Amino acid sequence: MAANTEPLPGTSDLWEPEVTAWREIEDAAREIFGRYGYTELRTPIFERTDVFVRNLGDQTDVVQKEMYTFNDRGGRSLTLRPEGTASVMRAIANKGLATGEECRVLYMGPMFRGERPAAGRRRQFHQIGCEAVGCNSPWMDAEVIAMYTHFLKALGIEGSRVLVNSRGLPADRPAIAQALQDYFRPHLDEMCEDCRRRFESNVWRILDCKQPACHALAEGAPKIVDMLSPDSRAFFDRVCDGLNALGVEFELAPRLVRGLDYYVHTVFEITHNALGGQDAVAGGGRYQITLPGSNTPIEGIGFATGMERLLMIREALGHKPAEQPAADTYIVALGGDDVISAGLKVAGQLRAQGLGGRVHADFTGRSMKAQMRSANRSGASRVLILGENELASGAIVCKDMAGGTQETLPLAQIESLFKK
Ligand code: HAM
Repeated sequence: MAANTEPLPGTSDLWEPEVTAWREIEDAAREIFGRYGYTELRTPIFERTDVFVRNLGDQTDVVQKEMYTFNDRGGRSLTLRPEGTASVMRAIANKGLATGEECRVLYMGPMFRGERPAAGRRRQFHQIGCEAVGCNSPWMDAEVIAMYTHFLKALGIEGSRVLVNSRGLPADRPAIAQALQDYFRPHLDEMCEDCRRRFESNVWRILDCKQPACHALAEGAPKIVDMLSPDSRAFFDRVCDGLNALGVEFELAPRLVRGLDYYVHTVFEITHNALGGQDAVAGGGRYQITLPGSNTPIEGIGFATGMERLLMIREALGHKPAEQPAADTYIVALGGDDVISAGLKVAGQLRAQGLGGRVHADFTGRSMKAQMRSANRSGASRVLILGENELASGAIVCKDMAGGTQETLPLAQIESLFKK
């Protein structure tokens, strides 16, 4: 039986020109987020499992159903990171952050969740995220959301929707949870099994349920922002004022709660209708996380955006990555080892000086016709031809593929060809 060479479901190999499309997005992220003072942080791809369980919440779908958790040879429970925020906070705790100090980081890389693969839902997916830690101001929330819309604009993505809500502070929650339970209690029979469980364990999650019956019921639930304490409401109003000041169009999404438990105050999602069912291209919010060895929770605000989903949108909007030719300069060597080695040397000289772009030297010793066919296929704009005669007279033939012209140059002057 032939070996199965396909990547595992929900994972993929990335080839050019896709890699170029990815790099364009990564570069835009570094450029735009850099303007707001974010610098890059790279954390390990796996962590101790408790880094995620403690921070994301043990009742969340991610922790309960989706984490890739395994024991290493020493019997320690480790997990492939399902998201970046918990790792960033662990890294900051490890480095230490003085009281009142702010830290702004951006990160990018693979994340892992054992979800059922679908369009825009992968098991290894890639996020670009930002976290601004140690800043408790609502204006910061507005700035972070605006920064993401700035990024979308830089990528030429129009037509997204910015959905915003507040979850208030932990102290606001018992009264809100009570009001939600009072609302859902008479309808328990109509709800899915998960939501009947959530009714007791975490009634907020019902608002997030995708099952049609639960979703329809959630539509009529009391609005969280109307039940916030006056301070939390004032915080939320300032976030909205900040967004208005920055000219960001947004919508209040009264039932947006997000799937992770660490959020306080502002939560937001950016959606785009080019995505279909999984329509969130980014999600984030303000969070409070208690770092190990501390009793005081530290606050941050951030978001993560899915690389694969950004690419889906750009593709739907007709964006094509710049195609890269396999070679810009192709060196044809017609003859034996002496000619091939001379071609190799020319290629080395050009690359050392950064001349001629991507330089490909042909080592096959094939016929002129065969090597020229390969040169054509490579997309090279210039072909340099060396034969026994040229080698003997210290010359090289240079063919301009676009113009069809050809000239013979002394080998020693080859560099002048590229410096014109
Ligand atoms: P999240 O909403 O779980 O938030 O993920 C953020 C984004 O990652 C989603 O909007 C989506 O674009 C992408 N994403 C998530 N799961 C998948 C998947 N299975 N396949 C493809 N794309 C996916 C977080 O991860 C939080 N850490 C965001 C955050 C940062 N909150 C505060 N700071």
